[in-house]
Amino acid sequence: SGSSAPVVVTVDPSKPGSRIDRNIFGQFAEHLGTGIYGGVWVGEDSPIPNVRGIRKDVVAALRAIRVPNVRWPGGCFADEYHWRHGIGPAKDRRVTINSNWGGSTEPNSFGTEEFMDFVDQIGSEAYVSVNVGSGTVAEAAEWIEYMTADPATTAGKERAKNGRKAPYKVKYLGLGNESWACGGAMTPEHYTDVMKPFARFVRNYNPAQTGAEAMQRIAVGPSDDDPAYTDGVMKAWKSHDWSWNIEGLSLHHYTTGGWPPSYPSTGFDEGGYARLVKATLGMDALIAKHSAIMDKYDPEKKVSLAVDEWGVWLAPTPGTNPGFLQQQNSMRDAIIAALNLNIFARHGDRVRMTNIAQMANVLQAMILTDGGKMVLTPTYHVFKMYLPFQDATLIPVRFDAATYSQGGITLPRVDAVAVRDKAGQLWLALTNLDPNRPVRIDAHFAGLQVRAARGEVLTAPRVDSNNSFEAPMTVVPKPFAAKAIKGGAQIELPGKSVAMLQIEE
Ligand code: AHR
Repeated sequence: SGSSAPVVVTVDPSKPGSRIDRNIFGQFAEHLGTGIYGGVWVGEDSPIPNVRGIRKDVVAALRAIRVPNVRWPGGCFADEYHWRHGIGPAKDRRVTINSNWGGSTEPNSFGTEEFMDFVDQIGSEAYVSVNVGSGTVAEAAEWIEYMTADPATTAGKERAKNGRKAPYKVKYLGLGNESWACGGAMTPEHYTDVMKPFARFVRNYNPAQTGAEAMQRIAVGPSDDDPAYTDGVMKAWKSHDWSWNIEGLSLHHYTTGGWPPSYPSTGFDEGGYARLVKATLGMDALIAKHSAIMDKYDPEKKVSLAVDEWGVWLAPTPGTNPGFLQQQNSMRDAIIAALNLNIFARHGDRVRMTNIAQMANVLQAMILTDGGKMVLTPTYHVFKMYLPFQDATLIPVRFDAATYSQGGITLPRVDAVAVRDKAGQLWLALTNLDPNRPVRIDAHFAGLQVRAARGEVLTAPRVDSNNSFEAPMTVVPKPFAAKAIKGGAQIELPGKSVAMLQIEE
């Protein structure tokens, strides 16, 4: 029925929680399908407007969501990538085959200089994953040396010859990718032994990268709920000494609803919505499980959990190369994005980085392109609405979420997270998981006089509504206001919606 009791959300701004690292809004850009070629890189001679080969429209869209870091070049691709193929004059670059992803031709036209130019254009940090699976410590060490060494050294001179005199900044270093599978099918013990020399010898020479700017090394960690790597790598970390260290452990977990991914990205019904939303909420228990193992070895939480691959992985769009992992993105995916961001925010004491898979044209993308056309997905709009969360402080909330049921599945009806942003403003993020019923939220802020609550809401006609090249504005945020009541705000939250409200005290 349409009528139900209001959900009471009690916010206590006097007891701030942990910081929400802006890096939880990180992106992942792999050489896969049209994620890079087409999605980011079109080349200087393209009729598509570009700056040094990088699409202007995509750069503008990404600047607007203040991407904190971009993980590159993979993914599985990273463990077969040889960086020397991607430097120097374009005509001399080696053309290879992308054996992981559809056997497509890899022209290597987007290499080190182009990636660094791209992150610079969007105002982001570089998260470079080195080849641990099929490369050597020497190859990886020389790559980071090439990027960061003083221009007076041979490595620095080679970089300068390729157009860049000053050292680049490499803020994050990935030590392999999924080494339990596509990265070499290693046991945790074997991986740990292989990884340590990378952690020791792959040095960053950029003199500006000291203190808080120092490069952070992220080791391969668990797949889904498998504790083997969490336990193995953290156990090794506990007895690390001066000779090696890591600052992060990666977790990969996709929302699939089963393997191989078979849920369609368009034209699904409410059952397809509820099953995937239920699956995505499992992220919370997963993080809790791995965090508890990490706490055993690292109670001071020195090592971050970096969820550096997450998102919905659906059936490929019919008619596309299945190896390109192309899928549409719907209102359901926007809700899934918001629920995951809320989970990450609540685990901010341990989860200090995440990377949604992937930035453009692949899996749960922010951006879809087709030739010169570009469309922003519902997930993109959630990332934009959540900007106040970047480096904000979590504020505890209490609420009884009530329930939404569909086909034997029972889910919480609402989700709520409050934060205080860097400038001191209070924000309330709300999600109504029930696609059919609006819900009234009575939000109370202990000790505050609320003057107004205004912001944006994202909703759509159907759970499978999406933004296409023909109709790009079907799922876009709209202005949204709540009614100020004594000590709080009364909010009429539409069905299947994500809202972000600024609370004016
Ligand atoms: O994001 C697609 C792939 O998923 C990545 O290359 C790999 O790391 C994971 O299995």
